[in-house]
Amino acid sequence: MKRLKKIIPAILLSGVMALSLVGCGDSKDESAKDLEKIKEKGEVVLGTSADYPPFEFMDKEGNFLGMDIEIAKELAKDMGVELKIQDMQFESLITALNANKVDMILSGMNPTEERRENVDFSDIYYESKHFMIVREADLDKIKKEEDLKGKKIGVQLGTTQEKLAKEKFKDSEFEVLPAIPDLIMLLENNKVDAVVTEDAVAENYANVNDKLSLNGLSYEDSESGVSVAVRKNNPELVEQLNKTIKRLNDEGKIKEFYNEAVEISSAKSK
Ligand code: ARG
Repeated sequence: MKRLKKIIPAILLSGVMALSLVGCGDSKDESAKDLEKIKEKGEVVLGTSADYPPFEFMDKEGNFLGMDIEIAKELAKDMGVELKIQDMQFESLITALNANKVDMILSGMNPTEERRENVDFSDIYYESKHFMIVREADLDKIKKEEDLKGKKIGVQLGTTQEKLAKEKFKDSEFEVLPAIPDLIMLLENNKVDAVVTEDAVAENYANVNDKLSLNGLSYEDSESGVSVAVRKNNPELVEQLNKTIKRLNDEGKIKEFYNEAVEISSAKSK
């Protein structure tokens, strides 16, 4: 009997809640979900592919470093929650986001039209281009687009550079791998002739590796730039993230994080 007494108010209560839910079922309340959920959980889970210095990489102890990581810490701080980091292959990030395994992606990701079909993006926090890395010894041989004819180009799986390179270089061969360091190794060992990647990443590898150089080929489009991806229909979360990005820009912090990350990542591999 005692139990029944508890159940009846519970049923009544759920009825009232159901009614009030109907009342609030407009799109604005729906869309506030993710930011609210993150605050309720007290943590935000960052998805990243830590193979991309100076954006994100790991030290020997497995600590996450890089500009994106520092920005993510600030995003979490401004939401008043802890930051948790999930490392995975770049190619799996959007699937993981939409499967609720992570709450946001910072991974040197370009906000392309194609990706916008599945996720929403914050404002751009870093303007980027794409550069080509070659072996220093080949600098004279591979400097114009025609020189890539019959050559093998390495690109990271599922990236804008994979698409770009395949469109530009119709007469080249490709090696498509999930992680950048493996492509760099192939380049060093003469298994590919060039690697196309983000400007900052290309500069980083050319700086730390005497055998590698930039050949001056550079690509940019309207989507060049890097921003935070979140699940679709979360304008309140996007707004919150944009607020922090603006603050960091105003305070000169993004530049600072970038410079620090370049310094650490170039020192690390020397
Ligand atoms: N900017 C490129 C893209 O959005 C490549 C990003 C690769 N990121 C990484 N952490 N490996 O597709």
